[in-house]
Amino acid sequence: MNNYANARSSLDNQSAFIDLRSDTVSKPVAGMRQAMAEAKVGDDVYQDDPTVNLLQHRVAHMLGKEAGLFVSSGTMSNLIAMLVHCQRGDEIITGRDYHVYCDEAGGASIVGGIFFDPLDPAADGALNPEDILAAVKPDDIHCPISRLLCLENTWHGEAISLARIKASAAAGRQAGLNIHLDGARFFNAVTALNIKPSDLAGVADTVSVCLSKGLGAPAGSVLCGPSDFIHKALRVRKYLGGAMRQVGVLAAAGLYALDHHIGRLSDDHAHAHDLAQFLSTIPRLSVRSATNMIFLTLADGSPAELANSLLEQGIIITPGTPETRLVMHLNIDDTALDAIKLAFKNWHMS
Ligand SMILES: Cc1ncc(COP(=O)(O)O)c(C=O)c1O
Repeated sequence: MNNYANARSSLDNQSAFIDLRSDTVSKPVAGMRQAMAEAKVGDDVYQDDPTVNLLQHRVAHMLGKEAGLFVSSGTMSNLIAMLVHCQRGDEIITGRDYHVYCDEAGGASIVGGIFFDPLDPAADGALNPEDILAAVKPDDIHCPISRLLCLENTWHGEAISLARIKASAAAGRQAGLNIHLDGARFFNAVTALNIKPSDLAGVADTVSVCLSKGLGAPAGSVLCGPSDFIHKALRVRKYLGGAMRQVGVLAAAGLYALDHHIGRLSDDHAHAHDLAQFLSTIPRLSVRSATNMIFLTLADGSPAELANSLLEQGIIITPGTPETRLVMHLNIDDTALDAIKLAFKNWHMS
């Protein structure tokens, strides 16, 4: 076993490590754990868990949507949305490297018989309106029925401007498509763009927001949209096996995250910017940052060697080609940032 695998196998001792693989790795803070312990709960399949109901209402209201549905994950939220929007044989137009197309195991095709037409995003991550219009299929029996446009913001950390995402949505609407927004990091986008949640949510019919990324909850997403859509979504969540019972303990973590962790996302963005500036001074690296993410390209040496060197110094990253991603989250404070900078300096000097 190499050093990397060795340390990975002793991840029980994780608190000793600084983990930069994703913002999903953050641990619930003490206040969140307390809110979970004290949560009022009920059976959510009967829709009588008061904490779940409050969370759903709160997120929907923030986004300017009629209703919300608490689900286990971002993948389930997107899948439910796609299954409600589309029938078998319908088509989703989306980005080639958007999560719904390349990171959700093809669930919409497996479960729903839904076809994808993936488009190359522009440099800012947006889908160009002319590409969307060109991808919409004619009313021809040889073609699937173009039904849904799936957008994503942030996209690989990049906050796509409101004007650009509105332009994509306008093209979709012109072609008669419904619009779903994968907002796994919705509040990172809203924070970076300095806009209201309802401004961004307003571009889409339905929006999925994750609570378990930068917001620091242990699990959960909320799918928001019109009341009749969410009513249908309840049945889909049920047949996917995603209807849970006294899940107010998790919803309480989500409510805590909304109250305490949206405001601090700007800290993650500032940390990413600060660390990127420091790393840019290391000649072997070319560096860019976007909201809470940093992307490194190595001029020499391998990402795996970099990962091993950092791991020996207590820092976990996922080596990547062509870019290695580092992600800031609520467990990365100023002390951790100093340790990360020192570890990179040592790697560079070694
Ligand atoms: C853009 C995007 N959408 C959806 C998801 C899926 O979220 P989950 O891991 O909760 O299923 C992720 C996960 O990282 C994501 O990055």
